[in-house]
Amino acid sequence: MEEQDEAFKDISDITMSGSVLTRFVTSNDAKFREVSKMLRERGIQVDRVRTSYPEVQGDTLREVVVSALEWLSPRLGDDLLVDDSGLFIRPLLGFPGVYSSYVYRTIGCGGVLRLLQGMRDREATFEACFGLLTGGRSVVFKGHCPGAIAEEERGLGGFGFDPIFVPRGHTRTFAEMSLTEKNAISHRGRVAEELVGYLENVGRERR
Ligand code: IMP
Repeated sequence: MEEQDEAFKDISDITMSGSVLTRFVTSNDAKFREVSKMLRERGIQVDRVRTSYPEVQGDTLREVVVSALEWLSPRLGDDLLVDDSGLFIRPLLGFPGVYSSYVYRTIGCGGVLRLLQGMRDREATFEACFGLLTGGRSVVFKGHCPGAIAEEERGLGGFGFDPIFVPRGHTRTFAEMSLTEKNAISHRGRVAEELVGYLENVGRERR
C-alpha cells in the first residue's frame, strides 16, 4: 500500500475526464450521500456499489481499509473507494475508535452519553480513512475533525453519532447541521478534499 504522496500514474483517462471517478463500496446510505455530494460539486462522478465486506478488526482505520481493498479487488476489480471511520473519545482513551460501528449498533448514542456521565472532559475526534484502488495500486487518505461530546442528543440530521458530536468552534451538533455545513468541516469532508486534490494533481501530471 502506498502513501498518498507517492503518486500513482495509471489512473484511466475516463477517470480524469470527469465521467466516472471510481466506485464507492459502501452499505451506508449516509456516507454515500456525503461523499458523492462533495465529489459531484468538484465535477467528479462516483458510482455506488452497495455491498458489504468483512471488516478485519484492525488496530487502525488504515488497516481496515487496506484489508477491505485486498478483499474487494479480486471480487470487484479496479477503481474502488472504501471509507472506514470512527469516533475517538479522549476521556475513554480513544474508545470506541475502530469499534465505533459495533458500539453504535449495541449501546448507541445513549450508551456513550451514559459512559461519560459526570465527566467534565468530553473531548473527542472523528476520524475518517479512505482507501482508493485504481490502476492496480492503492492509496490511503486520512482526515479528522476535533470536537466534544454533547451533554444530550440533539438534531435529526446525519447518521451514527452525529446527534452527540459538536465540532470544535461550533455549538450545534453535526445532526443539527445541513449536509453542506457538515461536509465543510467534517472528517469525511477533509478526506474528500485530500482525495480531490490528489486526483487533480494526477490529472495535471497527465496533461
Ligand atoms: P464504519 O466506518 O462503517 O466502520 O462505521 C463507523 C461508525 O462510526 C459508524 O457506524 C458510525 O456510527 C460512526 N461514524 C463514522 N462516521 C460518522 C459520521 O460522520 N457521523 C456520525 N457517526 C459516524
